[in-house]
Amino acid sequence: PQITYVSTDNTTQTFDVPVGTSVMRGALMNDVDGIAAECGGYAQCATCHVYVAPESASELKAMEADEDGMLEFTASERLTTSRLSCQLEVTDGVDGLVVVLPARQI
Ligand code: FES
Repeated sequence: PQITYVSTDNTTQTFDVPVGTSVMRGALMNDVDGIAAECGGYAQCATCHVYVAPESASELKAMEADEDGMLEFTASERLTTSRLSCQLEVTDGVDGLVVVLPARQI
């Protein structure tokens, strides 16, 4: 599935990310700047924060309580579109997903 990462300077990068990984892993695998992922993907650090374009969100798994709680600790403002990218599993259904990286993760 193709996932597009939009940086704060509006640089847009699109990659084919393997099914079964996460949007966070896709960023790290492709050296996308702007994802720190300090906890390694366990919804415990909030440094993999992204904003999901609303038109892209429908295929994503609903947010669980641990993700919701950790999103209170993001370095950049939490918006209604905020998610933790480590909790966004890559499935065939998310093809075309667009995520915007926040200004800061730490
Ligand atoms: Fe730590 Fe996502 S990598 S919360």
